[in-house]
Amino acid sequence: MEYRIRPCAASDCPQLLGMIRALAEFEEMPEQVAIGVPGGVLLGYGLFFVTHSTRWGPSLYLEDLYVAPPHRGKGIGSRLLSKIAEAGVEAGCRRLRLSVLDWNESARRFYGARGGQEETLGGWDGGGPRCFVFRGEALTALAGPPPGVGPARPEGP
Ligand code: ACO
Repeated sequence: MEYRIRPCAASDCPQLLGMIRALAEFEEMPEQVAIGVPGGVLLGYGLFFVTHSTRWGPSLYLEDLYVAPPHRGKGIGSRLLSKIAEAGVEAGCRRLRLSVLDWNESARRFYGARGGQEETLGGWDGGGPRCFVFRGEALTALAGPPPGVGPARPEGP
C-alpha cells in the first residue's frame, strides 16, 4: 500500500474524531464535555483526564477548553469549567491542573479570576507554558455553579 503524509483537511474531521475517541478509549480516559444548542451546533468543548500522583492521589488535568469566538464572554467557558471541576470532585480528585501558553493573557486572567493559582514549576523563566492549579476550596467552589449562572438545564435524551 502506498502512503502519503499530508496536512489534515476539514473533510478528515469525522474520521479523525473516531481516532481521537479510539485513542482515549485505549488509554482508558475518555472524558470530554461539550456544550451545544438543540439542533446539534457545538458552542464549545473541554477535554480532560485523571492523572495519579503518589502525593496527591487522583488529579484532574484539563487539556483543552475552547468556546467558539461568537459565543465567548457569555458564561459558556465558566459553565464548562464548573462541569469539569464537578466531574473531578466526584471522581475524588483533590486538584485540577492545566497549562496556558504564555502569550494567552486573556485565558490566564480567566483561570486566575476563577481561583486558579499559578504554579509554574521552577518559576516562569520567559519561555514555555504557565501552569495553573485549583485545589481545596478553590476546586470545590469551581465545582459549584459560576456566580450569576443558574442551574444548567437538564440534559436531553
Ligand atoms: N472573549 C471574551 N472573553 C474572554 C476571552 C475572549 N476571547 N478570553 C478570556 N475571556 C475572559 C473575559 O475577560 C471574562 O473574564 P471575567 O468573567 O473575569 O470578566 C471571561 O473570560 C468570560 O467568561 P466566560 O464567558 O465564562 O468565558 P468564555 O465562554 O469566553 O470562555 C475561554 C473562556 C475558554 C478562555 C474562551 O474565551 C476561549 O475559547 N478562548 C480561546 C481559546 C483559549 O484560550 N482556551 C483556553 C486555553 S488553556 C487550555 O485549554 C487548558
